[in-house]
Amino acid sequence: MTHMDWAAMADMLELEGETHSPYVRQALDELRDSRPRRILDIGSGPGVAACRMAEVFPDAEVTAVDGSPELLQRAEKRAARLGVSLRTRVASFPEGLADLGRADLVWSGQVVHHVGDQQDALNRLAGLLEPGGVLAVVEGELPARSLPRDLGFGRPGLQARMDATREERFSQMRSELPGSVRVVEDWPSMLRAAGLISVRSKSFLVDHPAPLAEGPRASVARYLGQRRTMLDGTLDAEDLATLDRLLDPTDPEGVALRPDLFLLTAKTVHYAHLPA
Ligand SMILES: C[S@@+](CC[C@H](N)C(=O)[O-])C[C@H]1O[C@@H](n2cnc3c(N)ncnc32)[C@H](O)[C@@H]1O
Repeated sequence: MTHMDWAAMADMLELEGETHSPYVRQALDELRDSRPRRILDIGSGPGVAACRMAEVFPDAEVTAVDGSPELLQRAEKRAARLGVSLRTRVASFPEGLADLGRADLVWSGQVVHHVGDQQDALNRLAGLLEPGGVLAVVEGELPARSLPRDLGFGRPGLQARMDATREERFSQMRSELPGSVRVVEDWPSMLRAAGLISVRSKSFLVDHPAPLAEGPRASVARYLGQRRTMLDGTLDAEDLATLDRLLDPTDPEGVALRPDLFLLTAKTVHYAHLPA
């Protein structure tokens, strides 16, 4: 496992997964002609995508794989609630991938960038495929937007400044991973280098316009709350005060109540096949 406490992020991961999940259905639509018998979701977290796969491919055996037993318990509860069939398996990447067996569809959403050697991780994911199988890797999303540039208070452009600090922290996170290797993050080329063919990328818009429903609103609030903790000491005092005001549940200008809150981002799925 990486140094991140994933189990502590369970609520946020599940809420965010649900808010973004229409893209998973659209991404699976691209595979509608395939009939996977076995599916592995590597780094499934609380299983939002894995349950979606179980729903879309009801004849397939779907296994959610993650390093966090707590998150897999969430996945099991979610599957039971939705009435879909889901297996779970605790495994640490990359070494724990070796004995998972092969699959016709291997999905991995926002996980590879948490592994030190990303090319090695892709090589190992490719190694899980049956001949003719598909690897779908979700990486390289656009930064989410949820607030107007000018909030009416604080310095305009807060989200752009938060994104800039996030980039710095992301690079730091990557450099501190065990066995960290710098690579050109050109996902299609990396998938080809893993021996895969017919590589293509498709991006899906996650578009929740204002006014936001309860779920997406809660997801944005959790995300900003997490950022507030992470960015302490990085953003200047004025921006931190603006964030605090945004996170005050009683403030009419805060994210809990403001009518102009929205959620706009895009997810990119890179598909690649093992030759039959
Ligand atoms: C950002 S979350 C993505 C969750 C889900 N796939 C999604 O798209 O919402 C990353 C997940 O990968 C798992 N993970 C990260 N590094 C891991 C490692 N080295 N071994 C096992 N699991 C890992 C975490 O436990 C977490 O559930």
